[in-house]
Amino acid sequence: MTARVAILISGRGSNMRSLIEATRAPDYPARIALVVSNRADAAGLDTAAAAGIPTAVVEHRGFPDRAAFDEALARELDAHEIDLVCLAGFMRILTESFVEHWRGRMLNIHPSLLPAFKGLHPHAQALAAGVDRHGCTVHFVVPELDSGPTIVQATVPVLPGDDEASLAARVLAEEHRLYPVGLAMVARGEARLEGGTTVFAGKAAAG
Ligand code: GAR
Repeated sequence: MTARVAILISGRGSNMRSLIEATRAPDYPARIALVVSNRADAAGLDTAAAAGIPTAVVEHRGFPDRAAFDEALARELDAHEIDLVCLAGFMRILTESFVEHWRGRMLNIHPSLLPAFKGLHPHAQALAAGVDRHGCTVHFVVPELDSGPTIVQATVPVLPGDDEASLAARVLAEEHRLYPVGLAMVARGEARLEGGTTVFAGKAAAG
């Protein structure tokens, strides 16, 4: 069965684009059925529409609180019979009940080797910490920000002379390769969330 995926974005949407491109392969186990943005001016909306993907805008400003926003989001996902949700540069914190509803069926990509450098400005955090390895993580979403069990990670070197922009660009190239890999693993049932741990087709790994 081919999973129907919604991608949630807030801006540029380059990870969204890489997912759309990957899912075009005939043997890919998922299709992008919907792109939702919480901002009407997200550039990714035009990219998605040009690719023939249905889009929706659910502007958080139009709702009195997070719960009402998440209910509107849930209605969009239900209307499009979504199986899996991919957060791709979606810069809103979701309510615990929304996250629990999608437990094991919602993925995020974060531009660091989690659990290192959660939250904002992970590349600046990495440079400030002086690490020589940095990267990105595809993980299951749990209520605590950037803390869900890892599905797959990619590593890049931190090079002498790197600044935030050069490091971000090196990581982003890996993000574009990695997110389709992580989504395929979940869509094929090769990685699933059990309790608080990712289970990989038979063997448990540290989350
Ligand atoms: C990506 O680098 C993504 O990993 C990051 O925002 C960027 C979105 O770019 N997400 C987070 O920091 C989430 N905590 P994109 O819109 O071009 O995919």
